[in-house]
Amino acid sequence: MKRYLITGASRGIGRAIAEKLAGPDVELLLHGRDTVALVEVCNAVKQRSAHVVRLIHDLAVPSGVSELIHEVGRNPLDLLVNNAGIAIVKPFCEITSVEWEQTVGVNITAPFVLMQHFAPHMPPGSSIVNILSVAARNGFANWSAYCMSKFALEGLSQCVREELRDHKIRVVNVYPAATNTDIWAQIDGKWPRHKMISPEDVAGVVAYALSCPADVTFEGISISSLAGNL
Ligand SMILES: NC(=O)c1ccc[n+]([C@@H]2O[C@H](COP(=O)([O-])OP(=O)(O)OC[C@H]3O[C@@H](n4cnc5c(N)ncnc54)[C@H](OP(=O)(O)O)[C@@H]3O)[C@@H](O)[C@H]2O)c1
Repeated sequence: MKRYLITGASRGIGRAIAEKLAGPDVELLLHGRDTVALVEVCNAVKQRSAHVVRLIHDLAVPSGVSELIHEVGRNPLDLLVNNAGIAIVKPFCEITSVEWEQTVGVNITAPFVLMQHFAPHMPPGSSIVNILSVAARNGFANWSAYCMSKFALEGLSQCVREELRDHKIRVVNVYPAATNTDIWAQIDGKWPRHKMISPEDVAGVVAYALSCPADVTFEGISISSLAGNL
C-alpha cells in the first residue's frame, strides 16, 4: 500500500488532487483545518481508497506542523504534496507582521519542515509535489507577501530536488495560473472566474507527472487557461 500525504486537502486544489489520486492501493492522509469540509472529502474518496485519515492542524504555527508530523507516524510516505497555502493580497505598506508571519509559516516553513522530516525516510521512486504558482516567477502589484513566499518555496524546492536526486526521489513543482477555488473569495475585487482553470485541471497534471516512470521527472509544470491572464 502507498501512503500519500496531501496538505490543504479540505477544498480547492488539494481536494481535487486527493480525489484524483484515490486508489485501492492508496492510504490517503488528508490534512486541513476545516473539520466539516475534510469529512466531506474523506467521504468522497473513501470508497476508492484503501484507507483515509483526517489530519486537522494549523500549519501557520510550529506546534501545528509538529503535531501533523506526529500524527502521520513513522511509516514512510510515498508522496508528499505541499499544497496548503494562503494569499494575503494588499499593498505592501499595509501588510501586518501577523499576516507576514502567517504567510511565511503556511507557505514556506511548513513545506520546509515537512520535507525535512519525511524525505529522509521516503523510498526510491517516491515523490514530493510542491504547489507553487505563477507568482513564484513574477511579481504582481499587491501580491508581495504571496509572491515572496512562492519565490522562497521555489528556491527551496530547487535545492531539495538536487539533494534528493541521488535518493531517487522526484521533486515536482507545479505553477498554476489563476484557479477557480475559494482562495479568491477572500481577495478583494471582482475576479473573472470563467477565465480561470479548474482545480481538477491542476490535479490532472499532478496525476500525469506521478504516472511517469520512476526514473523520469517533470521538474516544473506551468498550467494556465487558454483564455489568458486575468
Ligand atoms: N487558486 C489559485 O488561483 C491558485 C493559483 C496558483 C497556486 N495556488 C496555490 O494552490 C494551493 C491551494 O490553493 P487553493 O486555491 O486550493 O486554495 P483554497 O481553496 O483556499 O484552499 C487552501 C487550503 O489550504 C489550507 N490552509 C490554509 N491555511 C492553512 C493553515 N493555516 N493551516 C493549515 N491549512 C491551511 C486550507 O485549509 P482549511 O480551508 O481547512 O482551513 C485549504 O485546504 C495554495 O498553495 C495556493 O497558493 C492557487
